[in-house]
Amino acid sequence: MINKAPVITIDGPSGAGKGTVSKIIAEKLDWYFLDSGALYRLLALAVSHHGMKMDDAETLKVLAEHLDVQFKQGESKDTEIILEGEVVTQAIRTEEVGNNASKLAAIPAVREGLLLRQQAFAQEPGLVADGRDMGTVVFPDAEIKVFLTASPEERARRRVEQLKAKGESVNIDELIETIKERDERDANRAISPLVPAVGAIIVDSTTKSIEQVVDMILCELTKKGIS
Ligand code: DC
Repeated sequence: MINKAPVITIDGPSGAGKGTVSKIIAEKLDWYFLDSGALYRLLALAVSHHGMKMDDAETLKVLAEHLDVQFKQGESKDTEIILEGEVVTQAIRTEEVGNNASKLAAIPAVREGLLLRQQAFAQEPGLVADGRDMGTVVFPDAEIKVFLTASPEERARRRVEQLKAKGESVNIDELIETIKERDERDANRAISPLVPAVGAIIVDSTTKSIEQVVDMILCELTKKGIS
């Protein structure tokens, strides 16, 4: 693998704060940011738009390799995500799409189909990559690997807050169950399971603020002479 640009990988379950932390660090360093979960979510949405079946691995792989996706930096800070010409920035964030993404992510051919696309994000001056297998599979030579986690209850509480802010409501007990089910599937799948990479710094964000987590990671960078 050609991977000369420095890479920081931040892996962990959803709701641990990976996305927020990764974006802040990428902005502070002025590095690229890869939200690899968005690629799995985009694939899940494309599969449902095209009425495709989840059991045809080779067709799914071809779709993964050729998925027509654009990440556009819009006027606001948030990146606009366009799938086959349609803005899907919000549409890929539903629980349903997340669950379908998790199911697709357990198919080896799908992971193979997305591998090179993800590795292509590693460009100078550097990349912050957020996902489940960034440090274990996609960027095994990354300079810094972080495994960011939090209790399922705290992750559900954060998700409820996000949904409330959007005017949506959800049953927290059901959400905790869905989160546990998704964790179970992501952690126990045969290929690229969600596990900390060898040498990863393990950070439990249950009782930490975003700023504390960001500072811890920046401190590691300084120790390694990267920033
Ligand atoms: O981070 P997220 O919730 O947006 O990810 C959606 C699903 O995609 C997640 O349940 C598992 C899968 N995924 C993965 O298997 N590997 C990654 N690197 C990123 C996400």
